[in-house]
Amino acid sequence: MVYDFDEIISRRGTDSLKWDVKEGELPMWVADMDFKTAPEIREALAARFEHGIFGYSDVPDAWYDSYIYWWKTRHGFELQKEWLIFCTGVIPAISSTVRKLTTPNENVVIQTPVYNIFFNSIINNGCRVLENALLYHDGRYDMDFEDLEAKLSDPQTTLMILCNPQNPAGRIWTREELARVGELCAKHGVTVISDEIHCDLTLPGKEYIPFASVNDTCRQCSITCIAPTKTFNIAGLNTAAVSVPNEHLRDRIRRALNTDEVAEPNAFAVTAAVAAFTKGTPWLDALREYLAENRRFACEYIRREIPGAIPVEAEATYLLWVDVSGIGVTEAAAKGRPGCEKRTVSEFIANELRRITGLFVCEGSEYGTAGDRFLRINLACPRSVVEDGMERLKRGLAAIAEEIKPMYPYLFFDLDGTLTESGEGITNAARYAFEQMGMPVPPHEELFSFVGPPLSESFPKFGVAPDKVDEAVRIFRVYYDKQGWCENVPYPGIADMCRRLQAYGYKLIVATSKRHTQAVRIMEHFGLAPYFTDVIGNDEESGRKTKSQVIEYLLKKHGITDPKDVVMIGDRCYDAEGAAKHGIATIGVSYGYGTREELEDAGTVAVVDTVAELGGYLMK
Ligand SMILES: Cc1ncc(COP(=O)(O)O)c(C=O)c1O
Repeated sequence: MVYDFDEIISRRGTDSLKWDVKEGELPMWVADMDFKTAPEIREALAARFEHGIFGYSDVPDAWYDSYIYWWKTRHGFELQKEWLIFCTGVIPAISSTVRKLTTPNENVVIQTPVYNIFFNSIINNGCRVLENALLYHDGRYDMDFEDLEAKLSDPQTTLMILCNPQNPAGRIWTREELARVGELCAKHGVTVISDEIHCDLTLPGKEYIPFASVNDTCRQCSITCIAPTKTFNIAGLNTAAVSVPNEHLRDRIRRALNTDEVAEPNAFAVTAAVAAFTKGTPWLDALREYLAENRRFACEYIRREIPGAIPVEAEATYLLWVDVSGIGVTEAAAKGRPGCEKRTVSEFIANELRRITGLFVCEGSEYGTAGDRFLRINLACPRSVVEDGMERLKRGLAAIAEEIKPMYPYLFFDLDGTLTESGEGITNAARYAFEQMGMPVPPHEELFSFVGPPLSESFPKFGVAPDKVDEAVRIFRVYYDKQGWCENVPYPGIADMCRRLQAYGYKLIVATSKRHTQAVRIMEHFGLAPYFTDVIGNDEESGRKTKSQVIEYLLKKHGITDPKDVVMIGDRCYDAEGAAKHGIATIGVSYGYGTREELEDAGTVAVVDTVAELGGYLMK
């Protein structure tokens, strides 16, 4: 029989969680499929529906037999009838098991990135998540056994939830890997919940290994959750099973599921499962071929068309896990906007993708911190929809890359009044001290040498007698402090802004007409040096004296050929004039010495009144 997986079936107006989106949006997030389930299942459900009476249901032998038959014929593993317990879903079974087998505050280990709802099942039951992050290298995930053993050996660790095969990255764990997990869990007295809901959605030719089939150790320490729901797209029918070979454990799980009232089927749950496992083979095999082709198409498209994204090779699931770190969104870019301080990188990308193109995918950070450079995309939809999704992904990621690009790769900062107040503040204070002491005031240029060295060394250089130095320093300090200038943080938030700008991708450079050695000293003094690529000031010996000469020197030194790559940020009109000579734009800061009007008149592209506003302007 030929199945038409290309058919577009509208799910709007069916109360679909996935499709509750705006017109024009394309949901490729939650893990259900946009295909009708197998005709054999539909026929069985229709017959059950036609009967018309939907009272309480029992779990008949046919239900047990269908699970046993399926696992034996498809996965080569003989489940025993007595191991099986009906449950309304895999997550209800997991949550119930966590509740039953742990006491509050105990640890449950999960291997992240992993299905996000595991976090809920753990946290909602008062336990702690211990993330045994998977190792990601060359587009592949592996288990970190050293870290796993460290976490399992914690006396507070009671449970581990294994995802086999793995959602979101689609790894099928090998027999050796599973044996190792079983051995370590048994050694440390940890029970394993093996969630095998994705086990039938393997690539054609690939087979999964049931955890309990590996050896007796794995069998005795585990509870396995299985279901036809993901495979046959019948998740809304609430039908699953747990298989518990260990008799004592089974008694406890049976009690747990019954106490939580999740062990009784609705009127369609058994019919659907039995039809799926007894008659679903041809449909499922055709589906797997179709999904494999969707995956092949999507991966090739991404590799060919989207330079910043890398699809992770998967062996199972219809989920595509895409590494989007190459788009270049940094944490600073994601969090830098007002009100977005808590946003993750992948959340930023997913939000922007949806806003710009309507494509709705899952942000990787939902699956644990290890997932933050990824997106998860559901490929279980007609090929034309996958094509549409990929086109939107390409367009959206390109727009995001453009959006987060710094407005100017290079920021040339003036120093005094823009990054610090020190120079002007110090020279004014020194002038005041000379005046108060009744001494001739040295020329303004020379007073700049007060910046940097201790005052007790500077005053004698200008003829202050040794016994008068303390007095000069005292007068200086009174004046300086009266201005409210704080020696360590010249403007609140300036260091933080510089750090963010640097993380955002900007190259920060000081271009000042203050003496070069002083400029370097000031930057170090105020703790700003680490954020700057270069600090260049006036150096008469090499012919750099004016702001214009400093800028010219910097352009040459950094190989900047296009002046549009630079913006000069300053608080005085002469910054704008110096920059204009080289075709460089300027941003004026009115929190320094110049006024807003002066700066506007000097032809700046923008004038900002606060440090926060400057950051907001450059990181918008
Ligand atoms: C790994 C995993 N477990 C469980 C579920 C949900 O199972 P259920 O609907 O039976 O609660 C999903 C759904 O995406 C899943 O991916």
